[in-house]
Amino acid sequence: SCVLPGCALTAPPSPLSTKTELPAPYGPWMEIAHDLPRLITSHRLRSHVHQMPQLSARHLRGREELHLAHLVLSFITMGYLWQEGEEGTVKVLPQNLAVPFWEVSQALGLPPILSHADFVLANWRRKNPNGNLDTIISLPGAESLRGFILVTLLVEKAAVPGIKVGGCCRALWVFAHLESALRHPRGVLDPHMLAYFVDPAVFYAVIRIFLSGWKDNPAMPGGLVYEGVSDEPLAYSGGSAAQSTVLHAFDELLGIRHTYFSLCWCLAAAFLHRMRHYMPPPHRAFVEEIHRAPSLRQHVLSSGDARLCAAFNRCVSALADFRSYHITIVTKYIAVAAAKAKAGRAEPGDGPAAGKPPSALEAKGTGGSHIFSFLKSVRDTTREGLIRA
Ligand code: ALA
Repeated sequence: SCVLPGCALTAPPSPLSTKTELPAPYGPWMEIAHDLPRLITSHRLRSHVHQMPQLSARHLRGREELHLAHLVLSFITMGYLWQEGEEGTVKVLPQNLAVPFWEVSQALGLPPILSHADFVLANWRRKNPNGNLDTIISLPGAESLRGFILVTLLVEKAAVPGIKVGGCCRALWVFAHLESALRHPRGVLDPHMLAYFVDPAVFYAVIRIFLSGWKDNPAMPGGLVYEGVSDEPLAYSGGSAAQSTVLHAFDELLGIRHTYFSLCWCLAAAFLHRMRHYMPPPHRAFVEEIHRAPSLRQHVLSSGDARLCAAFNRCVSALADFRSYHITIVTKYIAVAAAKAKAGRAEPGDGPAAGKPPSALEAKGTGGSHIFSFLKSVRDTTREGLIRA
């Protein structure tokens, strides 16, 4: 919880689950989940899923088991959907997978698709007492996949001090902490990040497709029928860092309002707000609590204190710089990687997309937004949050 006594704001719980195995009756799910990279690359996952018994979610006890079950079923679902690449999708998720996935999702208030909470927040464990990290469930992409998940996790972790002090920015010293916390994720700080390498070619050609959803995705225009749940196809956005609670929390804290100044900004604001429904409900409630709290920006403005304004502005700049840094990363891992893949220079290695990288999401994020206009408008609105003298 917040560092100041009596502060009403509490940080979201983390990790989402400390369990790495479900109870014995769910062995058939765990067996498939632990073998996903091999089953997908050998094109056998779908037939294994067809043979899976239909298990009820009602024997799962407590939120930790539910989060682990959501993680397991979401990874199996993404593998099932994208096993044959973007040209070999299916229209129906079979009942023995769709029904329990739906039940677990309803119990948690999460969508029945892989979200940031599954991919990152629920998907890590300590490998040994030294604290070395590992993922719990994997997909094709080997070390690059592991690196992508764990570096994203370290960015989340780096945000924790900022979230903790965030609720109490009423004193200058707190701003100093917030600024350093906001600068933290830019890469300099966490030496553990250097332990991971994500190959842009593997990220682009092998990994991305498994995060893709069935809303705003030309490869799945008709959505997906969850057999035994609904006869109508349902559309859900793929996993995206736009679902990360910490960035929404910093935006709300600093009074950054992603609103409606232009069409791009309007689309970005609507997308970001929709993504809050892909967060675990306690996280969404946390962000909404900050939104309802008295405005920090207003407090700084009405204080008339130049040092306070300057400290506030350094925090906003740090957040804008983080957004810019994200754009350079996306340029390397999506724009440049796509151009190289097209020119036939990429070596994507194994995976369903080997030899022919997916193209449906060339200009879009896995969440379905238009990548660069989205990221730039979010960065520009962040800058709009600076207090002008
Ligand atoms: N959202 C990231 C992408 O667009 C993962 O590839």
